Amino acid sequence: MTERVLYLMVCGAGPADHVRVAVDLVRGKGWSVHCVATPAAAEHFLDLGEPERLTGHPVRTGYQRQGQPALPKADAVVVAPATYNTINKWTAGIADTYVLTQLAELAGLGVPIAVLPFVNTAFAANPVLHRSIDTLRPSGVEVLFGGEGFRPHAPRSGGGDGRKLCWTDAEREQVQEGAHPLEVVFLNPDDPITDPTNVLGQFDRDMYQVLTASAVVVDARERRGSGVGGEMAAAIALGTPVIVVAPRDSGYRRDRLDYRGAFVHDYVHPHVAAPALAVVDGFAEAGEVPRALPAAPGIPRVIPAWLRASTDECRSTVLAGDRPMLDALHRPGVDP
Ligand SMILES: Cc1cc2nc3c(=O)[nH]c(=O)nc-3n(C[C@H](O)[C@H](O)[C@H](O)COP(=O)(O)O)c2cc1C
Repeated sequence: MTERVLYLMVCGAGPADHVRVAVDLVRGKGWSVHCVATPAAAEHFLDLGEPERLTGHPVRTGYQRQGQPALPKADAVVVAPATYNTINKWTAGIADTYVLTQLAELAGLGVPIAVLPFVNTAFAANPVLHRSIDTLRPSGVEVLFGGEGFRPHAPRSGGGDGRKLCWTDAEREQVQEGAHPLEVVFLNPDDPITDPTNVLGQFDRDMYQVLTASAVVVDARERRGSGVGGEMAAAIALGTPVIVVAPRDSGYRRDRLDYRGAFVHDYVHPHVAAPALAVVDGFAEAGEVPRALPAAPGIPRVIPAWLRASTDECRSTVLAGDRPMLDALHRPGVDP
């Protein structure tokens, strides 16, 4: 089957390094992704090696140079993240980057284009941005802004939860598809508890989630922080199986790694490999793992003292106001 060609245009904003999110969404659906970056994206935000590994094609930042492969004809274009600068220059008819030149030509040819702006509220307060969006939409360009689309974040917040793009509905659906006929109930440590000032209570509820879950799935496509490490440690202590999603050549896994002067093949970072029941390539495979697990832990769980304090505290003070947890606990087969 001939693959369709998607140009992923990347501009100079924080999520420029989230190319993996887009590549994962079209993976296995007959698309070949070609990344085209603005000079600002390439210089300040993007490690060009990653998109090249993910897409299998070099990143284009300018016109074709001698010896460089030609870009195949685009069937569709996604601009993500799209900056204030690129959106406004595009509608003003400026074509001084390769991305802008391509956008002008491809829009003129009627190639389907979707734009995901990434701007803070200060950029968004400028009427010129809205004028640009209002120019693009009637010309057939899909601009995902406002409503169900992108909502501007506060200046200097870096987009707040921008890095949490990872757990999208699509990824949850993939876990569910893999787990079928089991029904997956997602417990999200990021769900707020009733009292946001009860910081310890949020931790207590996380630990309680780890205790009650049938499995913990860790999205290890990118580097994670101490919070995820703590949740993994708690899962091991509580006997909750840990499933790690680490695709080949992602944050914690390399086909070939240069390690202190020696080459290591099929490397998985030991800090995620050692605690994991399984390290899998994707979310559907993560969903398949619990199908082979017993319905309930075979041995009574011994809760260590440092976790006992948290799980008890969650039961006595936090749980009553946590609707998603309560819904989950009232399902058959769950042992609160
Ligand atoms: C750290 C940093 C973060 C930035 N974040 C954004 C952003 O979120 N959105 C945006 O429109 N511009 C942002 N900018 C400004 C753009 O990078 C700048 O306007 C640049 O000229 C964009 O060029 P491009 O549209 O060709 O990629 C940021 C700049 C820096 C240095």
